[in-house]
Amino acid sequence: MLVLSRGKKQMILIKKCSCNEEGKNMSDAKAILNSLNSKFKSQTVKFEMWHDAFPAAFISNKFCKGIVSPYGAHIASFVPNGQKDVLWMSSKSNFIEGKAIRGGIPVCWPWFGPAGDPPHGIGRIAYWELDSVVSEKDGSDTLTFKLKKDMASAIFKVNFGASLDVELTTENTSSNDLVLSQALHTYFAVSEITKATVGGLAGKEYLRATDKTRHVNSGDITFSAETDMIFDSSDAVCIITDSGWNRKIKVEKSGSNTTVVWNPWIEKSKKMADYGDEEYHGMVCVEAANAHKDARTLAPGKTHKIGTRVSLV
Ligand code: BG6
Repeated sequence: MLVLSRGKKQMILIKKCSCNEEGKNMSDAKAILNSLNSKFKSQTVKFEMWHDAFPAAFISNKFCKGIVSPYGAHIASFVPNGQKDVLWMSSKSNFIEGKAIRGGIPVCWPWFGPAGDPPHGIGRIAYWELDSVVSEKDGSDTLTFKLKKDMASAIFKVNFGASLDVELTTENTSSNDLVLSQALHTYFAVSEITKATVGGLAGKEYLRATDKTRHVNSGDITFSAETDMIFDSSDAVCIITDSGWNRKIKVEKSGSNTTVVWNPWIEKSKKMADYGDEEYHGMVCVEAANAHKDARTLAPGKTHKIGTRVSLV
């Protein structure tokens, strides 16, 4: 059993289970792959093993290429035509059931950070059920995943098009209040972190997670040390400006009053086994979240939706 949330109103317990709701054994990745291949037929979405560990959908349509796996509902790649991957993946990532994937978009659900155990929740280490694959009229592809746990259910929808659109809806399926915190923990690829800035958060208050002090951000964020900033920001549209690759990534969001900006820098990189010592040069996280004071209390039957849209501008 796991502690789902330590919110004031309740403590929720759920089972750690590698089975879906039908009781089918989900640890057999190749069996899942076979069932995906027989259930879904699409010209633009193909199912193959990914890193020889997890089944994944490989999307190739008129706008982009992309990868999303039912393991963690994990988006691993989004490559708009003619561009480098917008998302970053660690070369040292684990690809083992029960461990988080380092890079892409881990779904931190139904709690953020150390609000429960394991940190960042169980969503990123559970198999989600792929519910539908839709070829949209405009040529984009939408995949919808579901995850049910004792107290809550989640629907994760991703559209691969000119932009990458992600929506995560949580329903409290219990008869008690549910305290929900979460993040779409997006890792962006940059040419070199010292050549990248994050704009859109000037004048916003943030918690500096490294020393738990509060500050107000004065302008575009630059990187020269470990950065772990948890912003109070309902309206933020962030722009990652990368002068090395001469590109700008726009990060929009909805249903979120928290934006997290994270780069582990030198010492923390060395401490993470699934992250190369020098890899901090090539990434920055900008995360749409509901964290800390933005955790949401859902009454029985109520839902909350968080979303993010990523595009090149
Ligand atoms: C960020 C947190 O969202 O995720 C950081 O603000 C944390 O404090 C980072 O270190 C990575 O977390 P994890 O669990 O994937 O190592």
